[in-house]
Amino acid sequence: MLVLGIESSCDETAVAVVRDGREIVTNQVASQFDVHEKYGGVVPELASRSHIVDILPILKAALGDAGLALTDIDGFAVAAGPGLVGSLLVGLEVAKGLAWSVDRPLVGVNHIEAHLTAPLIAYEGVEGLSGEPRFPYVGLVVSGGHTHLYLVEGVGRYTPIGATRDDAAGEAFDKVAKMLGLSYPGGVKIDRLARGGDRAAHRFPRSMMNQDNLEFSFSGIKTAVLTHLRKNGHPELPDSQALKDLCASFQEAVVDVLVAKTFRAARQHGVEDVVISGGVSANSRLRERSLEVATSNSMRVHIPPLSLCTDNAAMIAGLGYHYLRRLEGRGFEAHELNANSRLKMGALPPEA
Ligand code: KG4
Ligand code: ZN
Repeated sequence: MLVLGIESSCDETAVAVVRDGREIVTNQVASQFDVHEKYGGVVPELASRSHIVDILPILKAALGDAGLALTDIDGFAVAAGPGLVGSLLVGLEVAKGLAWSVDRPLVGVNHIEAHLTAPLIAYEGVEGLSGEPRFPYVGLVVSGGHTHLYLVEGVGRYTPIGATRDDAAGEAFDKVAKMLGLSYPGGVKIDRLARGGDRAAHRFPRSMMNQDNLEFSFSGIKTAVLTHLRKNGHPELPDSQALKDLCASFQEAVVDVLVAKTFRAARQHGVEDVVISGGVSANSRLRERSLEVATSNSMRVHIPPLSLCTDNAAMIAGLGYHYLRRLEGRGFEAHELNANSRLKMGALPPEA
């Protein structure tokens, strides 16, 4: 079954085709990085306008790359939320038009759920970080908008078990990067600079680390970095040793907490498989540390490659496949699909 997925929830316009929920046929993304960079963050109206311009060329590129015609597609899947409403609407309307034009079913899926199930897609990953996760698993979705832990017992069966009380980890990366004078999105830049820095140069707080719960808090570390800058002055740009040390020390604190709480969740729930996904799972230190901890605890950690970690449409098509199969023959009412900026897990598809 060939499923075409569309993703437009934030600042990436993406189209992918996935066979049987496992095999990527094509995975195309147009990033709006250049549009938003000078504003230091995503500007919603500009995001919607860019999706409108990019979506048909990306669709054409995907079909061309796959050597497929629209009539070869068996079903469509689209991210219906959470995200920016104006951005989501672009993907939704294109998906509805396409499904209607070739008379195929369409299913709306949850963007966060798609991050959480992205490792169900077959991928060539780094040894130790790949392989199909076995249910039940603990999933950490960690991105610019989310830091959430779920117990995943199957597709559509998720129990929230922990979350951030304030900022998302990606937000902390982006805000600290901004304080340091690094351009948006800051996570990648901090990661790169940290590679040449001393992780022990500064001791930043590991909020809630010693509390026996699965909650996170990242606002304190932001303030700690700001206080440090006020006291010690701003490290020289673009790549002084002082800057690298700050990046490495900040990153280490965030990664320490993410890894500790995620594996604590796995132990508490008696599961051996851990999935980490969302934009921040691209972080090289998070990958390194989680592999170390998994290995020393005889657990398995699954982190897909960057193309499946950051926003992409393969994860939408992959998840959509499972729901399209469940809905088969029941004529899903696609015209009722609407964007929902705060879409809850489990709300879509309605019959699931
Ligand atoms: O999932 P995503 O592409 O978009 C959503 O937020 O849904 O995640 C983007 C976030 C940004 O905050 C970005 O700074 C962060 O992921 N990020 C990273 C890295 N690459 C992306 N954070 C730390 N290290 C990275 N290598
Ligand atoms: Zn995302």
